[in-house]
Amino acid sequence: MTNYKKPSGPDLAEGIPASDLAEGAMVTGRVGDDEVLLARQHGKLFAVSAHCTHYHGPLVDGLLVGDTVRCPWHHARFSLQTGEALAAPALSPLTCWQVEERDGKIAVKSRKTQPPAKKAGAVNERIVIVGGGAAGFAAAEMLRRRGFAGSVTMFSNDEASPVDRPNLSKDYLAGSAPEDWVPLRGDDWYAESKIDLKLKVEVTALDAKGKELTLDDGTKLKFDKLLLATGAEPIRLDIPGIGEKHVHTLRSLADCRAIIAQAKSAKRAVVIGASFIGLETAAALRARDIDIHVVAPEKRPLERVFGPQLGDFIRALHEKHGVKFHLEDSVAAIEGKRAILKSGSTLDADLVIVGVGVRPRVVLAEKAGLVVDKGVSVNEYMETSAPDICAAGDIARWPDPISGERIRVEHWVVAERQGQIAALNMMGIRTPFNAAPFFWSQHYDVPINYVGHAEKWDTIDIKGDVMKRDCVVHYKLGGRVLAVASIYRDKDSLKAGVDMEKRARK
Ligand SMILES: Cc1cc2nc3c(=O)[nH]c(=O)nc-3n(C[C@H](O)[C@H](O)[C@H](O)COP(=O)(O)OP(=O)(O)OC[C@H]3O[C@@H](n4cnc5c(N)ncnc54)[C@H](O)[C@@H]3O)c2cc1C
Ligand code: FES
Repeated sequence: MTNYKKPSGPDLAEGIPASDLAEGAMVTGRVGDDEVLLARQHGKLFAVSAHCTHYHGPLVDGLLVGDTVRCPWHHARFSLQTGEALAAPALSPLTCWQVEERDGKIAVKSRKTQPPAKKAGAVNERIVIVGGGAAGFAAAEMLRRRGFAGSVTMFSNDEASPVDRPNLSKDYLAGSAPEDWVPLRGDDWYAESKIDLKLKVEVTALDAKGKELTLDDGTKLKFDKLLLATGAEPIRLDIPGIGEKHVHTLRSLADCRAIIAQAKSAKRAVVIGASFIGLETAAALRARDIDIHVVAPEKRPLERVFGPQLGDFIRALHEKHGVKFHLEDSVAAIEGKRAILKSGSTLDADLVIVGVGVRPRVVLAEKAGLVVDKGVSVNEYMETSAPDICAAGDIARWPDPISGERIRVEHWVVAERQGQIAALNMMGIRTPFNAAPFFWSQHYDVPINYVGHAEKWDTIDIKGDVMKRDCVVHYKLGGRVLAVASIYRDKDSLKAGVDMEKRARK
């Protein structure tokens, strides 16, 4: 999150010795009130804002790749030439400056202004997006950023405009982020960008051949190109008491607000499921000084994704913060303010959060006759089996060039990037989605980054020390690295992503 500090370091307007910036190196300094990153890459000099436009990550700790810089925290990619946020989760550009090397000195000069994007597409072309989440928003933003001249309409059955969903189980839920950090853009932005955002509207049917949508009030709407980005919904448990007012799932801002409202007076909460959502929620509610009991059927939290070593670490981390685990158990019923476990014990709970996974919302696509196979099938251009209909995000199952398999994941960054790629392709700019999948998860002060995709592995190689929160964990199958998890080893995580992408291109 933005954490403004007065810029420090050398005055780059005055200049630094040219020998202080080797080929492939980055340094930071100040230009007036701005903190600026200076980079020398492939013999060229670049000066851009020093901090990422997502959560203010320090780009100097990131990685130079070609003429881009990648952010150490959540792997956003920026063009060094133009500052453009080429790949999410950052969406806004960096500022760029002119740089000069003369008489053995490098000095940063005036700010560069970027020309507006050239108009693209026909004015009467109509692109419709179903879904106001990560993928839908990123697609709409990319269409306008790249100058799409036609109309853009985005339907969302949510009451809130697109939000920074990952924040809902982290800082915002913990009470350490104000609500104005949650919307991805303010309401004015949609009008200014000519994005017709229609909230509280459910798209109920899709006629893929006739290129027509039906809305919940019966209205029909034609489109030229369509993006399906309907995301996923929490799985609802079928147990007695699940409908009680103090039992929640967490997906939307409204869900989060309802939890926060009850958290204000809650003393004890039961979290059902030791998933990412469950455990991040546990950590956030601990910050509100609520007693937390996590009930889950597995032996170790998140072992299926991270393996036993990280699973044990995550458990120990939560226990250190006072969370009590009831593993290899489940909640059989909720009776008023008590959760009855299968093992027979009971837990008091003013609040119950159910985090037992999500299901992709594929009904619209399925009913329209699109190919759906454990997700909406798309090619590398995010195109579905129907012409002019793309899909992206949690619903999309795509051919991942890194694993060589068709995969579907539920990651914020992947959803946004797929939305961006779908937008480019809908504009006729043929661009494959070939980035290494990436996600992060935050537990107290410990961020865990994960790049790649490993559903199974035969070897886990650990460099560093998991318990000391300083490690890189490689998940391998047949000697091949499928995925890499890391704690406070951001550069290793970035390099792993680059290696995977290079390997996929061979
Ligand atoms: C609390 C929380 C925290 C998370 N934290 C992380 C994290 O730290 N890291 C990470 O990588 N991932 C995280 N995720 C997962 C990430 O948010 C999802 O992978 C991502 O939001 C998927 O984007 P999407 O666009 O596919 O779907 P969504 O963001 O779910 O958006 C789908 C949208 O479509 C709308 N919609 C659905 N059907 C219709 C319809 N028929 N008509 C109209 N509108 C419709 C929905 O209301 C919703 O607004 C988190 C998820 C949650 C819930
Ligand atoms: S802070 Fe840079 S990608 Fe998140």
